[in-house]
Amino acid sequence: MCKYQHFQVLKCLFKPQQHCVCASGRRGLILGLYLSTLSALYLVPLGLYSPCIKEDGTLGPAPALIGHRGAPMLAPENTLMAFEKAVEAGSGGLETDVTISLDGVPFLMHDQTLRRTTNVQQVFPNRTDSPAAMFTWTELEELNAGAWFLSVSTTYDRLQAEKQTVCSLQAFLHLAARRDKQVIFDLYRPPRGHPYRDTWIQRTLEVIQNESSIHSSQVLWLPSELRALVQDLDPELQQVSGSRLPLEELQNGPAPSSTNLYVVSQPWLFSLAWCCGVQSVTSNAPQLLSGMSSPLFLMVTAEYAQVHALKYTQVHALKYTRSSTRTQGPRSSTSYQVHVLKETKVVNQVFSS
Ligand SMILES: *[C@@H]1O[C@H](CO)[C@@H](O)[C@H](O)[C@H]1NC(C)=O
Ligand SMILES: *[C@@H]1O[C@H](CO)[C@@H](O)[C@H](O)[C@H]1NC(C)=O
Repeated sequence: MCKYQHFQVLKCLFKPQQHCVCASGRRGLILGLYLSTLSALYLVPLGLYSPCIKEDGTLGPAPALIGHRGAPMLAPENTLMAFEKAVEAGSGGLETDVTISLDGVPFLMHDQTLRRTTNVQQVFPNRTDSPAAMFTWTELEELNAGAWFLSVSTTYDRLQAEKQTVCSLQAFLHLAARRDKQVIFDLYRPPRGHPYRDTWIQRTLEVIQNESSIHSSQVLWLPSELRALVQDLDPELQQVSGSRLPLEELQNGPAPSSTNLYVVSQPWLFSLAWCCGVQSVTSNAPQLLSGMSSPLFLMVTAEYAQVHALKYTQVHALKYTRSSTRTQGPRSSTSYQVHVLKETKVVNQVFSS
């Protein structure tokens, strides 16, 4: 009868000079312990999965970056400073939102009102909640569009940020033309009673065609209203449409001719878009993503196969241990420990090659 408990078996294992009587039971237990560890290790590669497994050399170029309202983490959104920062950070395109003033000047404003991103409360205290489109361009020029940013961000260019004003579409297009960047924007229809309520699209096209230096082919035209008219007035615009798709559709479905994902600001999501062959992403953090040289979890097929080859390494380990348990005493224990080192080494090599 064997009177050893588990912990004593382990003691025998690690202090081999001590005489252990219960040889056969002990061997069975060691083997059992070892086998269960091995089978756990054996299953590890099965659990490894990468959403980006590519044949070597088949990964496409990184998606182009489109600065979402500029580079809104570095400068107040939708200001010239924000777009300059986006260009400096490596953006290939600039995204914005366009509203038309009471006197027909298209300008950049995301919200319906001016409250969040200007000092309208100080300058026009009784019009804080008025639609931005109900201000004239002269009034809009009086506003500061950068000071608010200083309280929500620790930007290092405070002096430049607090001098920003509301940006006109014309100034935005000039910047894009000068820097040779593409532009894409949402266009808001003015509220009822606004003089440009029914001609907001024509007025915007006029600025693109006749009041700025941008070439129409640099403009990705997103608004869905009156598309036929738009195409007629300016056939050189790039017509694009926006829709919401689940991410799985992108990974599994047929690829559209060009896909833009928004808003992508985290490296892991950017990596996923890259692996899926997305052409561009609209991002709050172009400064973060433009520095990435490859997707975070890229595995070329050969590497993936190597992880699975680990199984064979472990099968060998099992064989080796079996033979070593045949001999008793200090020598067998020594060979067991040496073997563990060997195994670790093999595993490291496989992962680092
Ligand atoms: C806001 O106040 C000014 C005077 O301070 C007044 O002339 C103007 O009509 C007011 N506007 C509105 C929308 O109430
Ligand atoms: C741009 O100007 C030309 C020439 O004056 C005019 O014919 C055209 O309609 C204008 N474009 C728009 C969109 O108004």
